[in-house]
Amino acid sequence: MTDHSLSADSPTTTSRTPLTLLGTGTMGTALGRAWLAAGHPLTVWNRTPQRTAALTAEGAVAAGSAAEAVAANRLVVTCLLDDASVGDTLEGVDLSGRDLVDLTTGTPAEARARSDRAKARGARLLDGGIMAVPPMIGTPGAFVLYSGHRAVFEEHRDVLGVPARPEYVGADPGLAALADVALLSGMYGMFAGITHAFALVDGSDLAPGDLAALLVPWLNAMSGMAHGTAERLVSGDRTTGVVSNLAMQVAGVGTLLRTAEEQGVSAALLSPYVDLMRRRLADGHGEEDTTGLVGLLRAR
Ligand SMILES: NC(=O)c1ccc[n+]([C@@H]2O[C@H](COP(=O)([O-])OP(=O)(O)OC[C@H]3O[C@@H](n4cnc5c(N)ncnc54)[C@H](OP(=O)(O)O)[C@@H]3O)[C@@H](O)[C@H]2O)c1
Repeated sequence: MTDHSLSADSPTTTSRTPLTLLGTGTMGTALGRAWLAAGHPLTVWNRTPQRTAALTAEGAVAAGSAAEAVAANRLVVTCLLDDASVGDTLEGVDLSGRDLVDLTTGTPAEARARSDRAKARGARLLDGGIMAVPPMIGTPGAFVLYSGHRAVFEEHRDVLGVPARPEYVGADPGLAALADVALLSGMYGMFAGITHAFALVDGSDLAPGDLAALLVPWLNAMSGMAHGTAERLVSGDRTTGVVSNLAMQVAGVGTLLRTAEEQGVSAALLSPYVDLMRRRLADGHGEEDTTGLVGLLRAR
């Protein structure tokens, strides 16, 4: 196996930083392709060895084991199914002196625990959350949230910036995972709304494509309300300048529920949010916007 880290000064090799990638699934392969295309020597390992073929065909070196792959380079990126698979893969591997960048989706607590374990084994961990699907890798829309060792981020920023724009969110190793899950949760709320909207018009004269053409600009325009919510959460002012107050909105969502009933569509995806709005209204906050719902969710 080629040891890229030892051959970095050779006149026959590129000056691009060499790195190791553990996990060549769909996302790992997309990441690996971007690094290879940019000229970074890449050592890869995958539990199912055949799945490294796409990358070795493009110049990556396949290691015989995870330990061998980790030994090859100081910078080691993991992109595996979940935190347990990262644990399985790194079990018994000498991590001393390694900078681990874990791009596996996980919870904040998992990221903090992995960071502690890496430290105990002589490695520095930077946790990352990929905000892209594989075809977006290498395009301007892709970004990755990072948290943990700032020095690791700064040192490897250029390499990390090859597949996707790197965004450092803080020193707490769990912060990238928290932000990742917050963004994904917002996305699934949007997906739920989109699913309900298609169910409503199903079988009507409004074709799915026509609905989509109307829905996308509408959702884009409405998503900006997140800035207003952020400002109100910080200021504590829930009422100044409110243009769509809760009393009006609760009256309005009754129409949504009745229309769902008329169309024979379950309101299961809408009802939990409507219930929260009604609770806040019942608590006497009809002049507010929806910012107060955040506190209701956090109440245990
Ligand atoms: N795909 C996306 O749209 C997307 C978007 C953002 C983030 N992500 C994140 O990227 C990560 C990888 O996703 P993916 O799309 O590449 O998934 P994938 O195609 O299913 O690949 C999963 C990878 O994990 C490996 N793996 C699973 N269990 C393992 C174990 N116990 N020990 C060692 N290796 C194990 C698989 O190895 P085998 O080949 O041997 O099964 C494979 O390399 C996930 O954390 C995912 O949440 C994915």
